[in-house]
Amino acid sequence: MCGESFASACSPSILCRVTEIPEHLLKRSRERRAAIGKGDDAGDADTAASTPASTPATTEKAAAPAGPSGPPVRAAAPAPEAPKPPKPDPAYVTAAKQRRKVPWWAMATLGLMPVWGFMYVRAVTEPPEVVEGPLGIGAEQYGTCAACHGAAGGGGVGYPFAGEEVLKTFPNIEDQLRYVYWGTGEYNLAGVDIYGNPDREGGPHVTNGLGVMPQQGSLAGGGLTDYEILGVVCHERYTLGGADPTSEEYEVEFEEFCSEESAVFSALEAGEFSLADEEVPALVDEAGEEFEIDVIGPPVEGSPAAAEG
Ligand code: HEC
Repeated sequence: MCGESFASACSPSILCRVTEIPEHLLKRSRERRAAIGKGDDAGDADTAASTPASTPATTEKAAAPAGPSGPPVRAAAPAPEAPKPPKPDPAYVTAAKQRRKVPWWAMATLGLMPVWGFMYVRAVTEPPEVVEGPLGIGAEQYGTCAACHGAAGGGGVGYPFAGEEVLKTFPNIEDQLRYVYWGTGEYNLAGVDIYGNPDREGGPHVTNGLGVMPQQGSLAGGGLTDYEILGVVCHERYTLGGADPTSEEYEVEFEEFCSEESAVFSALEAGEFSLADEEVPALVDEAGEEFEIDVIGPPVEGSPAAAEG
């Protein structure tokens, strides 16, 4: 028997003599080889001798299309369709991926934004604590007086109120209310010379002695309501003038006229009486007790309330 390779082990002469390979078989072989891409097997015997049959299939495969030698190798199965390349992201997705992410600590801060916003809105919209009652209204209305009497009551064209100056002119609030209501013009018309305390420290204040105090009351053509006049007078006496609402001297006056529960203020606000009225109805304080105040009414000489009191 010849070796593993029939062609290399036997000489052609012997081959030809011993074996007759029928032509139709050779033809079929040639066709078959052609079919699998091995080409013509002419000279196959020569090349086969140089290539060991045991050549690993892998190298055969690599040279498959051109290699004319070696055992027939099956055509490589068509490679499975390569996976499609991933679709490129749309621009907005790419942008989102490239964008820098919010750091975790910032998230915590951002989470508090609504709380902060709520507090901010509250702080901005909530009005500052307002003083209620006569003193609150008085502080608002004093703006029109400040031009002549100073924002802090230090005086100017008009007299000062600060340092208890206004209390010296008007020991009792009723006299001041009357004066502010009518002003210098009406006091002049009424022929009143001294509009305040005649025994005033440093001399009485004389009508038109310093200038003209514009009237404020509605009957005199002024622009303030009666309760606004009370408010502004309370402001001048207590806030600017320095009257002590807890002192024996001013405690009752403050309760009745200038406190938040002021019955006089409420009655004026409700229109139960007017500062210009020549009679004043009995009023009821917070404790339910009736009390009376002096008539304010039209301009009068001196300081009748003080004289009576
Ligand atoms: C245009 C300036 C002017 C304005 C505004 C003005 N006053 Fe006067 N006020 C005077 C003058 C001047 C006198 C002195 C009047 C006189 O000599 O007869 C005076 C006097 C007074 C007095 C008496 C003080 C004292 O000790 O003799 C009181 C109280 C007073 N004003 C309250 C007010 C109030 C309340 C307002 C605001 C609603 C006001 N004044 C607005 C000019 C002004």
